[in-house]
Amino acid sequence: MDVKKLVKEMTLEEKASLCSGMDSWHTKPVDRLSVPAMMVSDGPHGLRKQDDKSDHLGINESIKAVCFPAGCALAASFDRELLRHVGETIGNECQAEDLGVILGPAMNIKRSPLCGRNFEYFSEDPYLAGEMAVSHVKGVQSKGVGTSIKHFLANSQEHRRMSSDSRIDERTLREIYLPAFEKAVKEAQPWTVMCSYNKVNGTYASENKTALTDILRDEWGFEGFVMSDWGAVNDRVKGIRAGLELEMPSSGGINDKKIVDAVKSGELPEEVVDVAVERILNIVYKYIENRQENAVWDKEADHAFSREAAAECMVLLKNDNNVLPLNKTQKVAFIGEFAKKPRYQGGGSSHINSFCVDNSVDEAVCKYQVSYAKGYSLDKDVIDEELAKEAVNLAAESDVAVVFAGLPDAYESEGYDRSHMKMPQGQEELIRRVAGANKNTVVVLYNGSPVEMPWEKDVAAILEAYLGGQAAGSAVVDVLYGIKNPCGKLPETFPLKLEDNPSYLYYFGEKDVTEYREGIFTGYRYYDKKKMDVLYPFGHGLSYTTFALSNLKLDKEKLTDKEMLKVTVDVENTGDCFGKEVVQLYIAPKESKIIRPVKELKDFEKVALNPGEKKTVVFELDSRAFAYWNTEIHDWHVESGAYDILAGQSSRNIACSKEVYIQSCNTLPKHYDENSLFGDLLEDEQAKALLEPLITMVKQSVSGNAEEDSVSKEAISDDMTKAMMKYMPLRGMRSFGGTTFKEEDFQKLLQELAAIGKS
Ligand code: BGC
Repeated sequence: MDVKKLVKEMTLEEKASLCSGMDSWHTKPVDRLSVPAMMVSDGPHGLRKQDDKSDHLGINESIKAVCFPAGCALAASFDRELLRHVGETIGNECQAEDLGVILGPAMNIKRSPLCGRNFEYFSEDPYLAGEMAVSHVKGVQSKGVGTSIKHFLANSQEHRRMSSDSRIDERTLREIYLPAFEKAVKEAQPWTVMCSYNKVNGTYASENKTALTDILRDEWGFEGFVMSDWGAVNDRVKGIRAGLELEMPSSGGINDKKIVDAVKSGELPEEVVDVAVERILNIVYKYIENRQENAVWDKEADHAFSREAAAECMVLLKNDNNVLPLNKTQKVAFIGEFAKKPRYQGGGSSHINSFCVDNSVDEAVCKYQVSYAKGYSLDKDVIDEELAKEAVNLAAESDVAVVFAGLPDAYESEGYDRSHMKMPQGQEELIRRVAGANKNTVVVLYNGSPVEMPWEKDVAAILEAYLGGQAAGSAVVDVLYGIKNPCGKLPETFPLKLEDNPSYLYYFGEKDVTEYREGIFTGYRYYDKKKMDVLYPFGHGLSYTTFALSNLKLDKEKLTDKEMLKVTVDVENTGDCFGKEVVQLYIAPKESKIIRPVKELKDFEKVALNPGEKKTVVFELDSRAFAYWNTEIHDWHVESGAYDILAGQSSRNIACSKEVYIQSCNTLPKHYDENSLFGDLLEDEQAKALLEPLITMVKQSVSGNAEEDSVSKEAISDDMTKAMMKYMPLRGMRSFGGTTFKEEDFQKLLQELAAIGKS
């Protein structure tokens, strides 16, 4: 389709009309020119295709579909292949349902455990979030269906989500909030990007040219179109000029008319509208060209796969005395309403109308010796004495008690944030009482974000099941009984308490202003720097077998930032059952002059191993792995120096490390003038040579005074003079240069120093 030609044939009104939706879920057609409409649908972890009575809050019913694990769980798999496969499966479902774009993945950074939408997001770490998004996008798009990475940008809270202004400094944006989107765009080229509701540094994301054009298109090479989050448009004309092509949903023609008027009045060049329409139509026709009329989907098969996927995402947080896995001969009590009604997805626009939901009790009773007690009611926060008593009695007469606990629906959802990090009080109390009656108490957690666990020491094992999709209930049973060996890792830190979180002091901001004052120190970057104890660290997750990492090797000890570094590390299954380990690679600058995190995740690999089997994992690191964002040059920069390459099983369980020296090929600009400090200049060999006469001058002047002050001349060494002068600006020579100082000579020196900066 020659889209450019097509656009030329359109009237201004037709073009403007294409820049907003027809309704909640379709782009507009142009019948006169046979331009088709395209349907989009939420997402991200399954189809929420709504035909009639559409809404963007997950209230009205959508078609029966399969709910896969939510983003919080998928990221815990640390498994690129799995994400790709989930994407492919969803992409195929989209083909069968004639959808052009599925709205996801949602990939904002988890700044605080309180964000109501954390369950949809991947991680506190931008590298992990980016890798997960790339695989998801590639998977969906391999089926000829588009994605919409969202919510761009800095939308890490639900509190006042449509008006809040995320105030973030340049380096933090570049190192924490942009990189996951950057990776997804550069490596997977999503068909669309969804801009968020909030403002970023004073400008709505929907009209933020820096984000939508300068960074997204010009720097990263984004080729698709940007659509607004539902109702995120503020000023439509500003928006289209800034790079927002499609307004969603419809604005009933109001904003289309504003575009027309702005063109007619000369305020908006018509070419801007042409380009926007071209970008939208390129994707609409991509959808048409990739359409597979005969695609079918098999709900049962996808459900079975969602069960496999859910098991891959679960994180075994604790397993004292190997209480897990359970065995067939044990009498086991399943306690808690979640055992019958698992919480497997979150509320809001991602809410899937699941065609079936597995529950752990039904799954287990026919295979194992399992009895059930309700223990608590999901609609009550406080302990129910009767239910608790029944549960405690059952626990006391069982070999093992498994309490299914976590956050009820109302606790976390799109649209609002949590105000605390606690589970319902009644559930906490029940866990304590059950643990008092049976020392083999296991807790299975359903939650989309970390919770405080004041009962953690009382129980023998904890399985973090996150929100694992409609088959979570059966997948939990697979993991509890060792049919599946847990292999998930935490994609976020579980702090001991909410107040420990780095964003705690500023999270809700003041009115509409939220300052991201913790800067680059999100999640483990903060806890590590402060050497704080946490409940469970980023990257943590146990297995029913054990692994050993060894033999870390680098192909070079010294390299420039233009070269690649190859890292190899061995991982061995040292236990007695099949399992998977995530080998995590972190980089730690050793003596940086820049304020940096202690270490940052730069790669990982999930490895499947039989007992006794050993494999070598290979990582390739480029300069970006060592770089920080330098705000002077507004670019990435690698500081020359030594770095530790760390391989570990979690961010706090590093098994081996090796040092490497990186030489930067780029020199940073130097600006030397009379306010430059001696100490800084002396670190520059060229400048240092020019400064010697000044140092002698100061030394003579000081020792001249020394005689008067009856301090021995010898006591004033060169080193002492330099130490005293370290923090003195050059202009201090006028005061302390003594009688030999001459302003003309000094001016000449300043010129020579300035020339170094320009050379
Ligand atoms: C959400 C988006 C969603 C859209 C359409 C908005 O409220 O923020 O994530 O895709 O609605 O349902």
